[in-house]
Amino acid sequence: MQVELENTVDISCAKYEYTDVLLCHDDELEGRRIAFILYLVPPWDRSDGGTLDLYSTDEHCQPQQIVKSLLPSLNTLVFFEVSPVSFHQVSEVTSEGKRRLSVSGWFHGRSLERPPRYMEPTQPRTPHIPRDESLLYEWVNPQYMDLAYQAQVQEEFEESSEILLKDFLKADKFDMVCEALRKSDIVWKRRGPPNKRCYECAEEAVLPECVSQCWELLASEAMFLLLSNFTGLKLHYLASGDDDDNDEEDDDEEKEEADETVAGSSDAAGNSIDGLEEKEAPGKTMEEPSAPVCRGELRRWRHGDYTIVHDTDVGNAEFALDLLLFLGCEDWQTEYGGFTSYIANGEDEELLTIYPENNSLALVYRDKETLKFVKHVNHQSLERLRKNPDRQGFCDFSFVYYE
Ligand SMILES: *[C@@H]1O[C@H](CO)[C@@H](O)[C@H](O)[C@H]1NC(C)=O
Ligand SMILES: *[C@@H]1O[C@H](CO)[C@@H](O)[C@H](O)[C@H]1NC(C)=O
Repeated sequence: MQVELENTVDISCAKYEYTDVLLCHDDELEGRRIAFILYLVPPWDRSDGGTLDLYSTDEHCQPQQIVKSLLPSLNTLVFFEVSPVSFHQVSEVTSEGKRRLSVSGWFHGRSLERPPRYMEPTQPRTPHIPRDESLLYEWVNPQYMDLAYQAQVQEEFEESSEILLKDFLKADKFDMVCEALRKSDIVWKRRGPPNKRCYECAEEAVLPECVSQCWELLASEAMFLLLSNFTGLKLHYLASGDDDDNDEEDDDEEKEEADETVAGSSDAAGNSIDGLEEKEAPGKTMEEPSAPVCRGELRRWRHGDYTIVHDTDVGNAEFALDLLLFLGCEDWQTEYGGFTSYIANGEDEELLTIYPENNSLALVYRDKETLKFVKHVNHQSLERLRKNPDRQGFCDFSFVYYE
């Protein structure tokens, strides 16, 4: 291979310490041709982590699995060609004492041709399951069925576009589902690709009865109505939506309200209110009946799991209501990771962080400029497992609702 290089080089120093990791990526950026790393490490062992792992790729140039794992060693130079398939990671440093120091960077040249960006098939969305309110009365903490309380929740939600509802399920139901999740008769499937996500997902078809019922609850018609009440969104044709109390507000107030999505930019937020006005303009008599839909997953988070914000998420993003319901989180510490971060596209600033907490239901309304990821679950999480072998990570129901 004869790679023609220009006379510029990017070079920097990197220090990885306990629990530091660089998740799967391809290094591709205009002009980068050869990546190099010179290791300046103390005697290093596989059990210290921090390996440079190289991935194989599939027919869509998406990373599949680790096929080579290089152990850093003092004064060793590693280099590889940057290409659409040069996926790699620095695995988590698991040594509590050693520092993984390196000098690394890129030599430049004419970039290789990039294949068209691969778009994953979108997850199927379904309309609500026809189940009535009795399901709510059976499962949901009665506090949340109180209409005055719902109105209070809605007010708070409309203020900040997010809310945390603690003790959401009735205690006996919650315990029952947690118990079922601890047992091993659930089929967990790993979801990838590793440049986007790494966690396990329960096979919906073979869930234990009570877990299946909980799933049904979250996808039920009654739940769509309850969420409409909590949020003011129109997730059911019977729900009034937001317009009733907007009618008498003047422009200024509407502008203010426009800032209330968990928004990446005020532009996008502005569009949101425009969109609402258009849809609900009084002159329009023959409205398209809206057909709200949802999609859901039951996920399991353990050491090494994460999701990554990916550039194909941008532009694919939509207005949506995210729901997270956490299970089996007792003794989960913030520093283990596994929390969900919302960020504005193109900015580093964090908009919102949601920490896993037993039986708490988080609702977040996001706009097209808002991205989210789940923080890598790190080596410290194993400390909890050592104390109690029953506590392998935690689970969540992750549902997304579209108006
Ligand atoms: C979390 O839920 C489990 C299952 O019901 C329960 O055993 C545990 O005590 C709860 N922990 C906390 C802190 O609420
Ligand atoms: C939602 O609110 C309406 C009006 O306040 C009420 O009639 C209905 O029962 C509520 N729905 C649920 C599921 O709580």
